[in-house]
Amino acid sequence: MATRLDAFLSHRGFGSRSQARELIRSGRVKVSGSVCREHGQHVDDQIVRVDDKPIDVGVESATLIFNKPLGYACSHDEREAPLVEELVPEAFRHLVLETAGRLDRDTSGLLVLTSDGNLIHALTNPRKHLEKRYRITYSGKLSAHAVKRCAKGIILAGNPKPTLPAQLELEGVDDAGLGLATLHLHEGRYHQVRRMIADLGGEVVSLHRDRIGGLQLPADLSPGLMREMSASEMRALMSGAETNNNTNTNTDTKNQESNGSIEIEI
Ligand code: URA
Repeated sequence: MATRLDAFLSHRGFGSRSQARELIRSGRVKVSGSVCREHGQHVDDQIVRVDDKPIDVGVESATLIFNKPLGYACSHDEREAPLVEELVPEAFRHLVLETAGRLDRDTSGLLVLTSDGNLIHALTNPRKHLEKRYRITYSGKLSAHAVKRCAKGIILAGNPKPTLPAQLELEGVDDAGLGLATLHLHEGRYHQVRRMIADLGGEVVSLHRDRIGGLQLPADLSPGLMREMSASEMRALMSGAETNNNTNTNTDTKNQESNGSIEIEI
């Protein structure tokens, strides 16, 4: 992926973008053997040298597993700061990373970031029915009827199509008297958990995602930490996608597909 020379140097430890520009202006930077004083020059697989020493290009792609803390936005818009991208470790900052699906600022838990567009597509394509598991505390009262309504599908405002069948488990109350529940979704509409719980007569107080497909949020990944996904974690993630993709028995989804109105995963 081509990157501007000033960003390339800044991401590799040569200071801020303006410090990198100063370095470039001073004539200490060479691209493919020639001095380059143009900070906007795009570099891809050329060899870049500073003071004649080649710069390590770093990893070329990565998929990261992240335990998103509360308060961070899945956005590149600085006006929404603090942003998830601020927590990307230095070694991956030069990559263009996107989150595969989003969590609200007020939601914590498992999030996947990747530079691989195909993986984003595989994880967010609603036709895959990749299961996501949410742990919920809520105020108000939910009954056995709520469980049935989730299983049947709920029509949410702004979309006449019912939600895909979802499994709601009601798990009593916590010490503060708030309801505890787990919801398994197979799609990802905007604010879906909060809207479904509201429709059922409750209000989400806290929301945490701890599983996507067959991938569980690792217990040793503290909130705010992000690291490269292991091969076995990647297999777990994708096995969830394949299994669900091969067992498409849901007629609502067929209807959504046939009229071309697939809702975009968030
Ligand atoms: N549903 C929500 O309402 N919020 C999230 O962050 C994820 C799913």
